[in-house]
Amino acid sequence: MSESPPVVGKIADKDSARSAELAAGRDKPREGRVAERDVERQLYLVIGGTGDLMRRKLLPALFRLLAKGPGRDRVGVLAAARNPSLNDESYRAWAREALVAAGIAPDDPDLAWCDMFLHYQSLGKETPEDFARLARRVGELEQQHALPGNRVFNVAVPPLALPTVVNGLAEAGLHRGPGWARIVVEKPFGSDLESARALNDLLHQHFDEARIYRIDHYLGKETVQNLLVFRFVNAIFESLWNRDRISSVQITVAEKVGIDARGSFFDQVGTLRDMVQNHLTQLLALTAMEMPVALDRDNIRDEKVKVLRAVDEITPADVIFGQYAAGEIDGQPVKGYREEAEAPDSETETFAALRLHLNNWRWWGVPFYLCTGKRLPKRVTQIVVTFRCPVLQCLPPFVCNIQCNQLIIAIEPREGFDLCFQVKVPGQEIRMEGQRLSFRYADAFGPLRDAYETLLLDVMEGDPTFFVRADEVDASWRIYDTLLKARPPVLRYPAGTWGPPEVVGLMEGEDWHAESEESRGRRCDRR
Ligand SMILES: NC(=O)c1ccc[n+]([C@@H]2O[C@H](COP(=O)([O-])OP(=O)(O)OC[C@H]3O[C@@H](n4cnc5c(N)ncnc54)[C@H](OP(=O)(O)O)[C@@H]3O)[C@@H](O)[C@H]2O)c1
Repeated sequence: MSESPPVVGKIADKDSARSAELAAGRDKPREGRVAERDVERQLYLVIGGTGDLMRRKLLPALFRLLAKGPGRDRVGVLAAARNPSLNDESYRAWAREALVAAGIAPDDPDLAWCDMFLHYQSLGKETPEDFARLARRVGELEQQHALPGNRVFNVAVPPLALPTVVNGLAEAGLHRGPGWARIVVEKPFGSDLESARALNDLLHQHFDEARIYRIDHYLGKETVQNLLVFRFVNAIFESLWNRDRISSVQITVAEKVGIDARGSFFDQVGTLRDMVQNHLTQLLALTAMEMPVALDRDNIRDEKVKVLRAVDEITPADVIFGQYAAGEIDGQPVKGYREEAEAPDSETETFAALRLHLNNWRWWGVPFYLCTGKRLPKRVTQIVVTFRCPVLQCLPPFVCNIQCNQLIIAIEPREGFDLCFQVKVPGQEIRMEGQRLSFRYADAFGPLRDAYETLLLDVMEGDPTFFVRADEVDASWRIYDTLLKARPPVLRYPAGTWGPPEVVGLMEGEDWHAESEESRGRRCDRR
């Protein structure tokens, strides 16, 4: 009789049950998932309920989670913002428009959810009386929907407004209701180590760490969550996942877009804070972490923190900063950053490439390249793991360099992965060609759900596994602290190119794989 090995982790509680699903890869998109999951009755408050994030991401996610199916009366939604001229009725009209813009059919009968479960409350000038009014409204809605006093506060306001909101909620006693209270905080989480620590101190005055959900929406992406299953369930990869077999890892987030309407916000932030400290660093942690004792909230995050703490100090030679100048994308002229941001002297980086080293046994000597930028030739997010080439070439020399094996984990736009290898081209001559074994999520499972949908459901269920813990925030800001204090020069690159040419030097002779994608399938003829 064959005996299967134990599933990683203990199936003892809600979190472990989720882990078991992950390990089995069975957590497929479903409709009306709240009904199927262990979601307690609760009020979901969005402070900043009229903003861009609510309109484009939170509201469509709430609708898809709550409006369909029998579980919808378990969760009431209350949006709050300062705007005094909105009421339930006008807010619902705004919400319907936003949902239709997000792709919901205008005649979808589930839009009636807005009229039954969606409410608005003004925060006015955010005086103590305004927050007391909010508290009274919360109490009324909990009665109206027969909710037991469990509350989520999803704070989606500009970063400078966060302390006012958190203190206002606490002073009104909203976090000490009859049930539990959870707080969701959007990125950016601070602007450096010091401000992140101050923000953590503020949150900890009112909420236990276990109740704080810091969102990095990359952690809600199926392909990113799948990194755990891919690495720790498929033993063929895990046995190769070390310095003996891997020569480098490249993590790329390339964007075609510029800064759009975010000019004044972005100019104070830059790519290192906006993308590298959070999204790319999370991808690094999941790629490099050790296998956790169990796939649960604390063990996964403990291992991620260890990776972040192992990152060696970054020297100036390890970094290239760039800023796009005018150029062309898809044959169309585009403005340079300074013109787009209306900041003629700006030295804000729109591109960053970094070479990181990890001071641990598994990864010693293996460079991790993090590359991200705006106005690059195409949109792609991927992790490319390059395996070491054979130590001896038994075949005769070829007219091009043979590509070593690579694993490409594609996160955007076509989620999946490719394993790249060389094959002999049929015929008498020895000729070789790069080929790939490919897997695409969409082909196997259909469209994937949006990351916010996944994360908001986790919040409702009380599962913080894929949220960033306070010590992770601390450890990731610490990596970049020196760099933020002594910034490298910002080099220019024309929009529509792959960043400053100096990146080639940083990569130590290696291709930047997002750029050299086309060459991967090339033929190698005998010399
Ligand atoms: N938009 C995105 O795609 C995105 C992505 C990731 C993270 N985020 C983060 O999410 C947060 C919100 O972003 P957003 O793009 O939605 O911003 P936004 O479009 O400027 O909206 C801000 C929202 O907060 C409200 N607000 C502003 N100041 C407030 C205050 N002092 N107290 C209470 N409410 C206040 C605004 O309404 P009133 O002015 O009427 O109060 C509005 O509802 C930011 O921290 C942002 O960094 C956004």
